[in-house]
Amino acid sequence: MRMVDIITKKRDGHELSPEEIHFFIDGYVKGTIPDYQASALTMAIFFRDMTDREIAELTRAMVNSGETVDLSGIKGVKVDKHSTGGVGDTTTLVLAPLVASVGVPVAKMTGRGLGFTGGTIDKLESIAGFHVELTPERFIELVNRDRIAVIGQSGELVPADKKLYALRDVSGSVESIPLIASSIMSKKIAAGADAIVLEVTTGAGAFMKNEKDAVRLAETMVRIGQHVGRKTAAVITDMSQPLGFAVGNALEVKEAIDTLKGNGPADLKELVLTLGSLMVLSAGKAESVEEARRLLKNALQNGQALAKFRQFIANQGGDPEVADHPEKLPQAKFRIELPAKSSGFLTAMAADEIGLAAMLLGAGRATKEDSVNFAAGIVLHKKVGDPVKEGEPLLTIHSDRADVEDVKSKLYQSIKIGSHLEKPRLIHQIIT
Ligand code: URA
Ligand code: CA
Repeated sequence: MRMVDIITKKRDGHELSPEEIHFFIDGYVKGTIPDYQASALTMAIFFRDMTDREIAELTRAMVNSGETVDLSGIKGVKVDKHSTGGVGDTTTLVLAPLVASVGVPVAKMTGRGLGFTGGTIDKLESIAGFHVELTPERFIELVNRDRIAVIGQSGELVPADKKLYALRDVSGSVESIPLIASSIMSKKIAAGADAIVLEVTTGAGAFMKNEKDAVRLAETMVRIGQHVGRKTAAVITDMSQPLGFAVGNALEVKEAIDTLKGNGPADLKELVLTLGSLMVLSAGKAESVEEARRLLKNALQNGQALAKFRQFIANQGGDPEVADHPEKLPQAKFRIELPAKSSGFLTAMAADEIGLAAMLLGAGRATKEDSVNFAAGIVLHKKVGDPVKEGEPLLTIHSDRADVEDVKSKLYQSIKIGSHLEKPRLIHQIIT
């Protein structure tokens, strides 16, 4: 088999065979296929697209390129949730203990944040003592005993994705639906998920800026799941503004605790109930979405979800008292309000810009080597569609430095006040 024939076949719009797809992935990972041929093929895929069969085969080949996590020691259906990214995305912090509290095993492998979207590990590490350095044996033991554990990413999961993603990034083929879908799904499958619930975000703070692309990506991933025998569902959500009110590590932990107590922002709560009921259903813990939703609502109201959060934090070395005393979380030296410059309605609060402003305060990393300021971030007081009066605080900046003029001017640029606007719909569509 010759790589050049595979490239020209795809260039001319034909379907590649499973053998050809495996030949490409194996050869590229081994180094027998050079970057210039791989980039020619990814560009041909960008223009010619792939059939469902090709995408499923590509996903399989990527999974096989490295180690896979064996979760067979955990009883029950392991359901993983993945989000294509957001700002102030407190979802996992609430969702993991919530679904575990109704009996769904949560065996979560997760990473640190880079850029304007924060990582779940960073958020959890703002709780004193909390750590994710568990042995695989301890990880499995905890999930079997208490239904929940989080471990840091380890091993060489999907090396083909690392190499291909880096190549696509510098050769102009990141925005290809079959390549994105296989990249995301291969990582979830390699991490041991039996079933997968996806949140595909759209809007300024999302990877997919428009809804049409988000729907195509979601449908493609759901079909990959069907092809490879993993039950998969996807929810299309709005990420034109940050999720909830808090953006920043410790601030989001506090927001998660409020939500686990049955309070918290309405959008965050709705998203958690939507994604959570799909997880409960996939895990076979309810007969219908409605029953799953009732179970989860009860767990939020009767303290079961919060109790699971306390247990989870304590199991991994953290101080469980933060659940009752969130003031024990890191606190920033300064709280600075941002007053509205005019009256009207909030018409825009670009999620990516708000995320970047939080990063300027130290809440996120610009490079992998940066450290994170757990206390820093932003708490919104208004969301898109809310009426505002001149002089009223739109948000509060939590900062360890007194001078935040740079952050303020960035925030003013990203926030628009105009005439009346409907509140954006959070859940656009559910695809199963
Ligand atoms: N996120 C991924 O994990 N892979 C892609 O290709 C794009 C976004
Ligand atoms: Ca939030």
